Amino acid sequence: MRQVPNIGMADTSAISPRYAILGNGRLARHLRYYFSSLDLPFTAWSRCGTPQANTFTEITHPTDRLERTLSHTSVALVAISDAAIVPFLHQRATGTNAHGKLLSWVHFAASVDTPQALCAHPLMTFADALYDADFYPRIAFACDDPARFRTLFPALRNPVFALAPDQRPLYHALCVMAGNFPQLLWQGCNTGFSQLGVPSDAVAMYLRQISENFIRHPGTALTGPLVRGDTATCASHRQQLRTSDPALAELYAAFERFFHQRQQAQTTAKSAESPISANTPGHAAHEH
Ligand SMILES: NC(=O)c1ccc[n+]([C@@H]2O[C@H](COP(=O)([O-])OP(=O)(O)OC[C@H]3O[C@@H](n4cnc5c(N)ncnc54)[C@H](OP(=O)(O)O)[C@@H]3O)[C@@H](O)[C@H]2O)c1
Repeated sequence: MRQVPNIGMADTSAISPRYAILGNGRLARHLRYYFSSLDLPFTAWSRCGTPQANTFTEITHPTDRLERTLSHTSVALVAISDAAIVPFLHQRATGTNAHGKLLSWVHFAASVDTPQALCAHPLMTFADALYDADFYPRIAFACDDPARFRTLFPALRNPVFALAPDQRPLYHALCVMAGNFPQLLWQGCNTGFSQLGVPSDAVAMYLRQISENFIRHPGTALTGPLVRGDTATCASHRQQLRTSDPALAELYAAFERFFHQRQQAQTTAKSAESPISANTPGHAAHEH
């Protein structure tokens, strides 16, 4: 596995704010790597004191270490668990660093709304493995205030799109469904595939192409018995799954219901758009 480069302290301070990356979870690790790859100046802090996530490891007390970390900072990046963000910011109500300089605070949680920090939600998944350095600048951020994002991160070329705080709960629900739920489904299916001895390479190629087809043709990529209206096959699938994995059988039935509801809604919408052609055989009403 690639090593996280040394904390970047290159002399870009004349053009860049000085950042503090707070936290030692998955996002914080990716941010440290990304900022290092750009030689952006930052200090790092996490409450656990681990050397990879702390610039001032010699200071053992977490609060003292944080104060020292922030003393070098103009923009503090709060990359910690969602539930901890607001309490963490409240404890620093003055929002200044040790020199009395006002800090700008940024958090990355779409589900958190606080006036104390700018929200910049990266529309990406950050797991344990790092990405290639040239991948990071392509990640888009959903932001309360894109102009402020550009001011706080003048060296970042990432796409930024505006999203009002009151739209974020729905946006986040969609992110979770689009990004996390397919993985839950694939995990469930993988167990069955491996019990049947299906090669994991074959499954990987199938999933990769499914994703690629959807990205290229989202409206027409769906295939299979649901699209073909093959109800006998669907019933047999549910029966097989009830024996091997009842939870997956329930999910199968829920997807069938979802598919049919969507189909029905589309048909209704089409009829509403052109009631005459949909309801009148031969388009008689158009004949004069
Ligand atoms: N991972 C993603 O794909 C992703 C994508 C978009 C946005 N985000 C956002 O990024 C943020 C971090 O997520 P993550 O995935 O990196 O989480 P994570 O891997 O679970 O790490 C959470 C980190 O928060 C720290 N923490 C928790 N409570 C704390 C507190 N009271 N004080 C200080 N540190 C505390 C933990 O410290 P310890 O290690 O000491 O427990 C840990 O380092 C979240 O707001 C999340 O919504 C994540």
